[in-house]
Formats: sequence, structure tokens, C-alpha cells
Amino acid sequence: MSDLILDARGIVRRFGGVVAVDGADLSVRKGEIAGLIGPNGSGKSTMVNLVTGELAPHAGSFTFDGQDITRLGPGERTRRGMARSFQMLRLFRSLSVEDNLVLASHFRMQTGTLANVLRSPAAMAEERALRARARELLGWFDLADFAGRPVSAMSIGQQRMVELARGILAQPRLFVLDEPAAGLSPVNVDRLIAIIRRMRDEFGMSILLVEHDMRVVRELCDQVTVLDAGRVIAAGVPEAVVNDLAVVEAYIGSGWKRRAKA
Ligand SMILES: Nc1ncnc2c1ncn2[C@@H]1O[C@H](COP(=O)(O)OP(=O)(O)O)[C@@H](O)[C@H]1O
Ligand SMILES: [Mg+2]
Repeated sequence: MSDLILDARGIVRRFGGVVAVDGADLSVRKGEIAGLIGPNGSGKSTMVNLVTGELAPHAGSFTFDGQDITRLGPGERTRRGMARSFQMLRLFRSLSVEDNLVLASHFRMQTGTLANVLRSPAAMAEERALRARARELLGWFDLADFAGRPVSAMSIGQQRMVELARGILAQPRLFVLDEPAAGLSPVNVDRLIAIIRRMRDEFGMSILLVEHDMRVVRELCDQVTVLDAGRVIAAGVPEAVVNDLAVVEAYIGSGWKRRAKA
């Protein structure tokens, strides 16, 4: 039995003449947080879309918990236990926070769509249980007061927490997060760090974390992979990667921004 939940090998993805991902390897160990970093345009989001099956690779293979998933679409990958959060929030703003959480999980409910339409006792019992879980989770995020209020009443930082709560409610085995700290205030970044850590430590989730904020990466990640122009230029524990001279030179401070524009 492999200790990897995700293993990507030799992944290539082109867009016309642009090679967005160029033979990259990326793995996530079970119960660990794996970071994926690199300047703008280095292929991080493309890699995320390849991992979740929204994009198909031109070469390479993906293994999920030991099984080849290279040819599976996003729906099948979700059913096997992958979840993702989006860089852009995808919540229904006029629905209540609790409804947003419950709605997402409806797709995974055991009793199926027809029973839900017919409002069978089994489906209603399941929905009650789901609502109870959703409220418990909101309490856990310090957002219990918002359960019945529309998402539009929340700050962006709070909405991002709801997105995370929604992902946790689906109980994924691998949670893929694309720049969750983007646009958050320092206080909310601290809360985000605490929550992602709890996702790993208390829920045993494996997490692939794409992140720009090096503080978040250093505090959370067990392993880090660095992309540059679609290629892996460094991988290892955060201290080693961050101390790697080439990485420091190319990716931190002004060098990061200069190269991102080039
Ligand atoms: N759908 C697309 N069509 C064309 N080019 C794309 C598309 N998605 C990404 N790219 C290009 O692929 C490269 C990598 O982009 P991306 O994966 O978004 O990088 P990152 O997330 O690291 O900023 C960039 O040059 C980008 O312009
Ligand atoms: Mg991106």
C-alpha cells in the first residue's frame, strides 16, 4: 500500500503554443498538506485543473489512492473523494449560509435525486442530519450566527470560510485549495491557517495547497513543490525549499514579481 493519496507523473499540458505544465511530478501523502508554489503563470492553476479532471493532460498519469484516474472526469474524481475550492468564490449569495452548505452535499446524499424530489422520509431524515452537521461546522468556524443569513451578509473572508466548510462537509479524502489566502486580511489569514491545520489534524484530510503567501506555506505545508514555467525546480520540506538559493533568488521578494512579469 502506497502512502500517497495523489501521485502525478510527467504531466504535460499545452495551450496552443504555451506549455503551461511541462513534465511535472507532484505527489501528496495521506494525511499531509502538500504545497504547490511558484510565480504567476508558472502553471499552478493549470495543474490544479488537471488534478481535479477539469483539464485533460497531453502526457503523464494521475494516480489516486493507488488507482489510475488519468482518464476520469471531474464528477468521477469527486465521487472518489476529491474536493476543491475555487480561487473565485462560488457560493449562492442570496441563499442562506446553511443552505449553501446543504446544497453542495445534496449531490453526495445516499438516497439519490428521485427520493429527494419525492421528499421521502429517508431523504428528509438525511437532510436533517446534514443540516445539523452544517450548523455544527459553522460553530466550529465561529460562524454559527450566520447560519440563517444570506451569504451576501458576510465579508469575503467569512465567505471563504464557508467555502472551506462546504468542502469539509463533503468529507473529501483530498481537498485541493487554490490560493485560499488571496485577498484575506492578516487576521483572516491566521484563522485560515488554523482551520486548514485542523482539517488535517482532526479530520485526517490530505490537502493540496496552492499558495502565494509564503508564511502560509511555511506554517502549514509538510512538503512543497516549486513550479517555474511549468517545470518542477525544487521539492522537499518547506525549510529546505525556502533555503534553496535558486528558489530564494527566483521566487521571493522582488525577484518573484520581476520574473512573474517577464
Ligand atoms: N485556458 C487557458 N488558455 C490559454 N492559456 C492558458 C489557459 N490557462 C492557463 N494558460 C496559460 O498557461 C500558463 C500557466 O497559467 P496558470 O496555470 O494559470 O498559472 P498560475 O496559476 O501559476 O498563475 C500561463 O502562461 C497562462 O497564460
Ligand atoms: Mg493560479
